[in-house]
Amino acid sequence: MNTTTTPLTPVQQSRRVERIVRGQPTSDGDGVKLTRVLTQPLQKRLDPFLMLDAFGSDAASDYIGGFPSHPHRGFETVTIMLEGRMRHQDSVGNVGLLEPGSVQWMTAGRGIIHSEMPEQEEGRMAGFQLWVNLAAKDKMTAPAYRDVAPAAVPALTLDDGVHLRVIAGSALGVAGAVSRPTTEPLVLDITLPAGASFDAAIPAGHNAFVYVFGGGVVDVGAAKAPTRVESERMAILANDASADGVRLSAVQAARVLLVAGAPLNEPIAQYGPFVMNTTAQIHEAVADFQRGVLAS
Ligand code: CO
Repeated sequence: MNTTTTPLTPVQQSRRVERIVRGQPTSDGDGVKLTRVLTQPLQKRLDPFLMLDAFGSDAASDYIGGFPSHPHRGFETVTIMLEGRMRHQDSVGNVGLLEPGSVQWMTAGRGIIHSEMPEQEEGRMAGFQLWVNLAAKDKMTAPAYRDVAPAAVPALTLDDGVHLRVIAGSALGVAGAVSRPTTEPLVLDITLPAGASFDAAIPAGHNAFVYVFGGGVVDVGAAKAPTRVESERMAILANDASADGVRLSAVQAARVLLVAGAPLNEPIAQYGPFVMNTTAQIHEAVADFQRGVLAS
């Protein structure tokens, strides 16, 4: 879907940048190199978001090991593929191919075991994985999985050449590919030509951040006093009670992942791929995994 439109309601007051975060190089799965942008110490501040990994490499040795079979419980994983192909398989019986431009939304709920393996031996692999927490009342829900093909991600091209993909939530009156209750996640993939600006509406109480990528530079915040954010940096947006969104202005052509959601304000207990509310629930998750409960 591609249409041209103009913003319906420009942001009256933009949020400020509270803090700029540089990700930490690490590896996960079977030696896949990635940058962990949203790390565990930021989980409370960016509630309901638990993790953001950015991956991107031309070297097969950085990704070829993939993510062999592993469990999850208690939250949702969102995989945003930019380049390359990955094959998904899980214990519920789902099989899917993640292609460039596609999105996979998996609700681990009470438990799922899955693998994500590269379906290529050379070429570039790039994308993101975002973890969205589930409310205590939803943590033991049935697992669910959805593949969104590239053409099924609602997209808009605005008059000034800004291209917007609405992955979750809604923007400019366009409903995204995914809509979730409780955490109400907003996930936008925004491509900005040099000199172009984009205003995104964000509810005042929601926690929000932007991640700049694609080699560009973006001024974030009100035109009078923005904060310059370089490529491969996350900017945590302040929760100004009077701000109704954020203004993004590209100094150099850039791409921005904008993420916002309603905080759960519940205790977070994480042990690797399990995210619950208490240590007792984590012990239960590990025991359930060991006796095969998550695979059924
Ligand atoms: Co996983």
